[in-house]
Formats: sequence, C-alpha cells, structure tokens
Amino acid sequence: MAVLPVIFILLLVSLSNGEYLQYPETDDEVQEIFRFWKIEHDKIYPNEQEESKSYRTFKDNIQYINELNTLYRGKTGFGINQFADLSPKEFQKKILMPKRQAPAFDSKRYVNIKASAPLPESYDWRDKNMVTSVKDQGSVGTCWAFSTVGNIEGQWALQGKSLSNFSVEQIVDCDGTEDVKLKKADCGVFGGWPFLAYEYVKRQGGLESWDDYAYCSGTGKCFTCPAQGYNKTLCGPPVEYCQKNESCEAKLDKSKFVPGLRVDDWQAVDQNETTIAHGLILLGPLSVALDASLLQFYKFGVYSPISCNPKLLDHAVLMVGFGVEKTLFGSKPYWMIKNSWGEKWGEKGYFKIKRGSGTCGINTQVTTAILAK
Ligand SMILES: *[C@@H]1O[C@H](CO)[C@@H](O)[C@H](O)[C@H]1NC(C)=O
Ligand SMILES: *[C@@H]1O[C@H](CO)[C@@H](O)[C@H](O)[C@H]1NC(C)=O
Ligand SMILES: *[C@@H]1O[C@H](CO)[C@@H](O)[C@H](O)[C@H]1NC(C)=O
Ligand SMILES: *[C@@H]1O[C@H](CO)[C@@H](O)[C@H](O)[C@H]1NC(C)=O
Repeated sequence: MAVLPVIFILLLVSLSNGEYLQYPETDDEVQEIFRFWKIEHDKIYPNEQEESKSYRTFKDNIQYINELNTLYRGKTGFGINQFADLSPKEFQKKILMPKRQAPAFDSKRYVNIKASAPLPESYDWRDKNMVTSVKDQGSVGTCWAFSTVGNIEGQWALQGKSLSNFSVEQIVDCDGTEDVKLKKADCGVFGGWPFLAYEYVKRQGGLESWDDYAYCSGTGKCFTCPAQGYNKTLCGPPVEYCQKNESCEAKLDKSKFVPGLRVDDWQAVDQNETTIAHGLILLGPLSVALDASLLQFYKFGVYSPISCNPKLLDHAVLMVGFGVEKTLFGSKPYWMIKNSWGEKWGEKGYFKIKRGSGTCGINTQVTTAILAK
C-alpha cells in the first residue's frame, strides 16, 4: 500500500465564512492517521494496553480538534502534533506548570518607557538575528527556563556579541531560588519563574553554553535531582528517583561559563500593551507568560481563546515581535511568540496571540534581564 502522508487524509471544509480543517472520525480512518502519527513522532508504547489507551485519547483529541476548528474557523487553526496522545488534562499536568497568579513587583522594578516615535505596524527581532533556534522542552514543565534563557540570549546579542545558545539545563538543575515574600519558587521540572531565574544567574555569576551543559531533563536522557534550596512547600514533593551524577553539583563547571556573560539585575514592563510594544523595541525579546490551556493543538493563526484566565498563568515563553494579520474579516493585531515545543509545533515553533486586550494574561509577567556591560 502506498504511504500517504497524513495531510492527504485531512479534509479542508470550505464555507462561505472561511476554510477550516476537519479530520475524519471513523475508526478505520483514525487508526490510519494514528499509524502515520506514531511513525512521524517515534512513538513506541511499552505494551498493547498503553497503546490502546493512547489510541483512545488520540481519537478523542481528533474530535476535540475538529470542534476547535469549527469554533475558531477563520481565526485559529488546530491540528494533531506530538501531544496528540495526551488528554488536555494530562497535557496540563505534564507540560504546563501549575496555574498560578502573576506576582506584582515593587514599583521600582518597572522600566519607565517613553515612546519617542510612533509604533511601526510590525516588528520582529528575528529579522535582526537576536533570537536563537526553537528548542523542545520535551515532556516536563521547564518552559520557564527556556523563556529566561531566550531573553538572556537576546540581551547578549544586543550587546553586539555573537548570538549563541545558552544552557537551559543549568538553570533547571541548579536554580532553587525562592521569594518568601511573594511565595514563589523555582521548581526544576515542575515549573518556575523567569524573574527568579535571573536572580539565580546573577548570584551564580554565569551561565554555560547549551553545548557545554546540554538539555536532557525533558528528553528522557537524564533524571536530574532537585536543586539546592528546592522548597517542598511551594514546589510539591521532589522527583522520587534522581541520578546524583546528573545533578547540578556533578555537572556545573564554572570554568566553562560564557566569558563576560553576567546578569546584573532584571526589570519588568507594565501591563499596557502599547507600552509593551515600545518596550520590546527598546529592550529586545521579552520573557512573558500566559494561560496556555488551549495551546496544545495550535497550528496557525491568531490565538484568542474564548475561555482562558489571564490571572492563572501556566506557561512561560518569549515575545519576539508584533504585527497585524489581515484577513477577509478584518485585521487582527498580534504578538509573535517563540515557544519551546520544537520546530514542528505551531508556526515553525512560534505562535501568534491577540494583542491589545490582555489575552490569556500575556501582558502580566513581562520581564527582562539586565546584563553586565
Ligand atoms: C543553536 O542550536 C541549534 C540546534 O543545535 C543550531 O542549529 C543553531 O545554529 C545554534 N545557534 C543559534 C544562534 O541558534
Ligand atoms: C518554603 O516556602 C514556605 C512558604 O513560602 C516558607 O514559609 C518556608 O520558609 C520555605 N522553606 C525554606 C526551607 O526556605
Ligand atoms: C550517569 O550515570 C548513568 C548510569 O550509570 C550514565 O548512563 C550516565 O551517562 C551518567 N551521566 C553522566 C553525566 O556522567
Ligand atoms: C496605554 O498607554 C498608551 C500610551 O502611553 C495610552 O495612550 C493608553 O491610554 C494606555 N492604555 C490603557 C488601557 O491604559
């Protein structure tokens, strides 16, 4: 039998109000899609029970995606990807962080941004080579470390240094920073906060490169131990099993810190999205966070879910630009966001989210590191 890529199985439904994607839903067809999907994503299940459980979730997800595509037609497209065997609940638990409120910082943390020129219609730091390649956090909640490192990489390149990949794993392994007053802590594979991670890098005095201290905790290649200072009250119980030889104590090598790279401090940008746009141009790619509940199957378009809670953040990402999407139905201002779910996810690893109305809290936790000159 000829091997048909999944895309040919997908139906494009055309309506007067736009085209949208629908997957077939009969068992035969879904089984066929599942078969190709397993090959594409190297999915191997330990036994038949696991496989049929995953298949049932996959089938439910296909129905769910079809519903989303109907509901959001003309706006946002959804489709199967590496997360198609996780129910939305499992996705929330494994990949996203526990939902939590954004802390408000002391007023002196906020940068005073004065707009000197009108905003351009669009802006993108990728055009200026200030953004490294899209990474993949794998199956754990380490987005916060990717968001932090993405910001630091941009700040470094903005100093005229050559753009390069810095270590995310170092932060995951070594950063157990907590803020007792704000009741927030960095919890390794169970989530954390970029503003606390800047504090860690500042205290530690440097960061290794991605190549010297490679990412492994989400890829099943290592089982890292909780960082020093890991707060069980705020983070929950630590991982039950860990490899001492894969911990920060065993791996951190200060002689390999990127020469000259030091975090002096960090600052925040207030919630006004006009201010954030000026801030982005002035400061570089910014660390942001959002409620990402519905982002699991995002494929393209401007993300603007009906139900999401701007006060309950569960995912940290990197804001790299903004623009306006023009469609038959009008124009939609958006933020361009770098995610850490691999290049195959979304729009080559990126997504667009509605700009100007505090969508999913994207404007509530905007921060950047300040590097030593
Ligand atoms: C970062 O790592 C990726 C993947 O290994 C590589 O393709 C890229 O060239 C590296 N550098 C930058 C600046 O993205
Ligand atoms: C952990 O966090 C709790 C709650 O904020 C705090 O009361 C406690 O002192 C922290 N524990 C340690 C060991 O820092
Ligand atoms: C840690 O030990 C395991 C098992 O002995 C080994 O497979 C792994 O490569 C070691 N990791 C490092 C960083 O040495
Ligand atoms: C955001 O800031 C802009 C420019 O400073 C101002 O014109 C606008 O009224 C502010 N929006 C809100 C919602 O405060």
